[in-house]
Amino acid sequence: MKKIIIAIDGYSSSGKSTLAKAISEKLKYKHIDSGALYRSIALFAIQKKIFNSDLWNVHNFIPLLEKINLKFKWNKKYGQTNIFLNEENIQSKIRTEKIGKKVSLLAQIPEIRKILTVMQRNIGKNKGIVVDGRDIGNYVFPKSEIKIFMKGSIEIRSYRRYQDLKKRGEKVSYEEVKKNLIHRDIMDVSRNISPLKKSVDSVEIDNTSMTIEEQLNLIFQLINKKTK
Ligand code: DC
Repeated sequence: MKKIIIAIDGYSSSGKSTLAKAISEKLKYKHIDSGALYRSIALFAIQKKIFNSDLWNVHNFIPLLEKINLKFKWNKKYGQTNIFLNEENIQSKIRTEKIGKKVSLLAQIPEIRKILTVMQRNIGKNKGIVVDGRDIGNYVFPKSEIKIFMKGSIEIRSYRRYQDLKKRGEKVSYEEVKKNLIHRDIMDVSRNISPLKKSVDSVEIDNTSMTIEEQLNLIFQLINKKTK
């Protein structure tokens, strides 16, 4: 079967990663959760205390990124890909609201986007990947054979995110999660560099009231056409 690149872009908490994971399992493809890369940089920035001071520190922070070791590794026990920062598995550390609040700030910095774009293109150089994020179809892999654009109502996305955080033991309210999501949507679409934008050649999925099976059916119809 011909190996392709599947790009899944869309709004925060629109179910991109869930879908990407399911597709990658079925096709035995690598899954690159690009949001996890941005979140890892936010965790590293918090560890380096860059938010405790002024902007000047951001520019001191960029050179530190050249020395970090950021890798995706397969976690056999949980049957999923986990992200490692300097050999530490940080998969659960990056999913918190604390990281969620800082990450869109860092995602606007061109130098950070450049480093992470190079990293993603390296991982994907032999194709056979499913990548989810915001700028994948438009910028990171513009020649992706399949481009999906995901959206869903703010209420359903907030509810999913709220449930997810509650399961992880975080003490947040639905209203707080919704407020944070609205803020992230604005940051994602209005950023100067690589904003979230539906490309003309992408297929839109609004999963406000769609099951995962329905979404997978739709995508596999596209995949079957492209991999023949
Ligand atoms: O998909 P996510 O919520 O894990 O993404 C975390 C943040 O990273 C989000 O605020 C947007 C940013 N991001 C980005 O700017 N570009 C990507 N390709 C992926 C994520």
